[in-house]
Amino acid sequence: MSVAIVGGSGFTNFAELELIRREIVRTPYGEPSGPLTFGTLNGADVVFLPRHGYGHTLPPHDINYRANVWALHKVGATEIVSVASVGAIRDDLAPGSIVLLDQIIDYTWGRASSYFDSPDMPVTHIDFTIPFDRDLRLRLKAGCHHCGETLTDGATYACTQGPRLETAAEIERLARDGAHVVGMTLMPEAALAREVAIPYAALAVVVNYAAGRKDSLTEISVADIALTLDSTMQRVRAIVMGFLKQRGGAL
Ligand code: HPA
Repeated sequence: MSVAIVGGSGFTNFAELELIRREIVRTPYGEPSGPLTFGTLNGADVVFLPRHGYGHTLPPHDINYRANVWALHKVGATEIVSVASVGAIRDDLAPGSIVLLDQIIDYTWGRASSYFDSPDMPVTHIDFTIPFDRDLRLRLKAGCHHCGETLTDGATYACTQGPRLETAAEIERLARDGAHVVGMTLMPEAALAREVAIPYAALAVVVNYAAGRKDSLTEISVADIALTLDSTMQRVRAIVMGFLKQRGGAL
């Protein structure tokens, strides 16, 4: 009964954990982004995995999403809380906003995106109408409330291939499609979690306005992204810890 935390950019270590052990987990799909870190926090059993590796060395299109989710499944994670940074397409989601996502549009290509893709397997279609788990979302919201933070409840996440950022015209198109924020890493992660039936929810940290929007009209400042990431990730950690407190029965 452990909760998995998948950390994104700016969340590559979870120093607050009372460390139990680190374990290299092998999977039929190859190696995950790094060893899994097992620990406890606020009474909850936690397994932590930084999606980009502990040294942030893996770009979004090179992450072995299948190995990551399989490893978490194999060690018995019963739910996954995923953290990812995003650019804002919607004007009201200023950098520094934290968003509890509720929908996804997938624009990625060429990523190994299913466990049901070998010829000896029956053709399998998972339901993905609601990509994020309702109950887990509610508990994250409650965790946020308990630690006095605020988040925006509900936004549609466009997953692009990267690693480059988008053009202004691409963002215009994503906006027309109905996307509110854009990132590069939650697909196929979310779908794979559904394939192995692990409830999954994601906190998105807005670190910039997307290309062509507001102060990113002609350019996105990568230096500003790093600054926002630093200052906002502390608040995300607080939300995750509030969630764990509740889950571990400490509230
Ligand atoms: N686009 C894609 N991914 C991102 C962005 C962006 O503007 N900001 C952070 N991750």
